[in-house]
Amino acid sequence: MKNLVILISSGGSNMAALARAARQDDWERRLGARIAAVISNRPDAPGLDLARALGLPTEVVDHQQFEGREAFDTALAGAIDLHQPALVVLAGFMRILTPAFVARYAGRLVNIHPSLLPAFPGLRTHARALEAGCRFAGATVHRVTADLDHGPILDQAIVPVMPDDTPESLAARVLTQEHVLYPRAIARLLRPS
Ligand code: GRF
Repeated sequence: MKNLVILISSGGSNMAALARAARQDDWERRLGARIAAVISNRPDAPGLDLARALGLPTEVVDHQQFEGREAFDTALAGAIDLHQPALVVLAGFMRILTPAFVARYAGRLVNIHPSLLPAFPGLRTHARALEAGCRFAGATVHRVTADLDHGPILDQAIVPVMPDDTPESLAARVLTQEHVLYPRAIARLLRPS
């Protein structure tokens, strides 16, 4: 069985979309894969309750309990490695990872970013897309490398920008598509080639 470990920091709607797809499309039988754990770096992340409600095992590795990124990443890797994951799925995980962490999971680490990379890496993606006058926005699933938000692109979804969009309205439209895009990209990665 291929284990997936999902890392979250807050709402967890992408994690929930993955969990629903895994259940609806029977990833265990069809892809030999299951979500083994949802790990949050924030004990108060609402996504933890959502994960529990979906019947998923949850864990917390609180970054505030560690001095520095290395110590946190080492503890996080310890929690992840217990599950011997085939994939480590970042789903709104708001921590910059150390190069050692990224190297440890090379080829197994994926992220979803709410812009059409390579445009708008980093934060405030929707506001920056509006400021730039973009007619289209979207989301990208990519492999994680040491270069923040620049790893090889696995899949993208495009949404139109409306004339009266605010960063919030655009974010909501993009997020709806993220929930379709991420399960599709992960299922493709899990499918035997
Ligand atoms: C998503 O927009 C994702 O692309 C970004 O953070 C947001 C997380 O939302 N990395 P959620 O926690 O999955 O609801």
